[in-house]
Amino acid sequence: MTSGRAVLTRTAMSEDHDAILDVVREAFTNPQRDASEEIDIVVSTWKLGAAFSELELVAVVGDVVVGHVMAGRGDLGGREAVAVAPLAVAPSHQDVGIGTALMTKLLRRADDARLPLVALLGHPGYYGRFGFEPSGPLGITYRPVGEDNPHFQVCRLSAYDPTYRGDFTYCWEAPG
Ligand SMILES: CC(C)(COP(=O)(O)OP(=O)(O)OC[C@H]1O[C@@H](n2cnc3c(N)ncnc32)[C@H](O)[C@@H]1OP(=O)(O)O)[C@@H](O)C(=O)NCCC(=O)NCCS
Repeated sequence: MTSGRAVLTRTAMSEDHDAILDVVREAFTNPQRDASEEIDIVVSTWKLGAAFSELELVAVVGDVVVGHVMAGRGDLGGREAVAVAPLAVAPSHQDVGIGTALMTKLLRRADDARLPLVALLGHPGYYGRFGFEPSGPLGITYRPVGEDNPHFQVCRLSAYDPTYRGDFTYCWEAPG
């Protein structure tokens, strides 16, 4: 519980890594599955040094990490683009606006960095509120989920232009 204590969001540091993995594990584990896929994504992005500067954030209550989001470098039709994976809030702290605070700050920072867009794979019902839209009509595809899958979404930023199109590949999927 937040117990009335303020929730702060800040840039993640390497000292946060263990606590971040705990949050990701708690958020994504359920009776049907464990969180190994999301843990692998986070660890691979760290190992590749592919988290975009200033676009890995934690939410903290006191000194306890309760939420995490990261945007990693990827490839969009031969040009660099970033994608969020994953966004996680500890179950004991969900539904009090922490995911919203993390995503809002990440998008503001991405816009400040003059990135054209942020991509992600997720629930349209959650991410639409931040300005994400299905990527298919913009000519942006993510082959593993098939063309025109509404779960692959982009949020267009101020520096967007329609030449940003093609297949997207996450950093951890890149060959080599
Ligand atoms: C999804 C998640 C990041 C949201 O973070 P949060 O801090 O709980 O969310 P917020 O408090 O900012 O927003 C709550 C709102 O999101 C909605 N919401 C939460 N999860 C949702 C989902 N999977 N689909 C649609 N809406 C969702 C809530 O119903 C609530 O709606 P309301 O504002 O209309 O009442 C968090 O619940 C989580 O970590 N879940 C498990 C991991 C996960 O699914 N991550 C996202 C992968 S796509």
